[in-house]
Amino acid sequence: MVRVRSYLRRRGRRTMGGQESPITRKEFGIEKARQIESRTGMALVSVGRKKAIIKSDYGRALRESVVDTIDDLLDWNVVPPTTAILLSPTGKEPSWHPLWNKNKPQTVSIQEWIENAVPFYTWSKDKPQTVNRLIIFGHLIKENSKNELRLWRIAALDAIINNIDRHDGNIVINKKTGLVWAIDNGLSFEYDCRPSGNRIIEWASDSGGILPSPVLHDLRALDEGDLRAALSPLPFQEIEDAIKRWKNLKKAGSIQDVWPGLPVARSRNIGCWEPLNRHPT
Ligand SMILES: Nc1ncnc2c1ncn2[C@@H]1O[C@H](COP(=O)(O)OP(=O)(O)O)[C@@H](O)[C@H]1O
Ligand SMILES: [Mg+2]
Repeated sequence: MVRVRSYLRRRGRRTMGGQESPITRKEFGIEKARQIESRTGMALVSVGRKKAIIKSDYGRALRESVVDTIDDLLDWNVVPPTTAILLSPTGKEPSWHPLWNKNKPQTVSIQEWIENAVPFYTWSKDKPQTVNRLIIFGHLIKENSKNELRLWRIAALDAIINNIDRHDGNIVINKKTGLVWAIDNGLSFEYDCRPSGNRIIEWASDSGGILPSPVLHDLRALDEGDLRAALSPLPFQEIEDAIKRWKNLKKAGSIQDVWPGLPVARSRNIGCWEPLNRHPT
């Protein structure tokens, strides 16, 4: 598979902090942009033979790409290949695009588009409706047995990155393969609350919480230096907190739906809704 990120790596232009020189759309090979969402400046583009989604929020773009690097290190492949680049405007950008209307370079995330993907809430609509999360996610496992391990991997990844945004729209299913993917991972690391519950962590917790041995094995095999390198674009405290969550997770060997059950950065508290009532503390 051609990975968007390795394509960029070959060019030696990977950037996180905005220090390096910006890359143009043409240099990166971005073609055929079309608008997906005007408010947030999201665009669907072509990169070579692949499609990719571009998002323009600096902090989230950075974090989206860090999350994919961790997924790469673990060799889990539950996050579509993602990179962050400093993209320069060409001056000929479509007027609808908030990013490309600006005259200065912007950090964007570029994530491979999963073909035939539908959000979990759409996919599960024609399944028998129930509030039982084991049954709801059980449909996914019935669809493709590989999804059981993939769900545990996403739960473990979300626990490490402190993902507060894993609702049913940020879980997509490739209708052809039946495989589940974790998208929209930018609302991670920095928060000390969760806005809407993390659906997959809730599922893991309802399933007993004990990490399957292949998942625990991979968490233990992960090298701390490699993980720190993956986290390095983030502020110091977010790196330290993520390392602590990883260490706690592999020590505990299980995931519980108590949030925050693991240390998170206290520096920011934006966009938080009320925590779930059923966890009053
Ligand atoms: N990599 C992807 N592959 C396929 N579909 C995607 C991908 N990224 C986003 N989408 C689709 O676009 C929608 C919005 O993208 P998302 O990253 O969740 O943005 P937002 O920040 O607005 O929630 C998703 O619910 C999903 O349907
Ligand atoms: Mg989303």
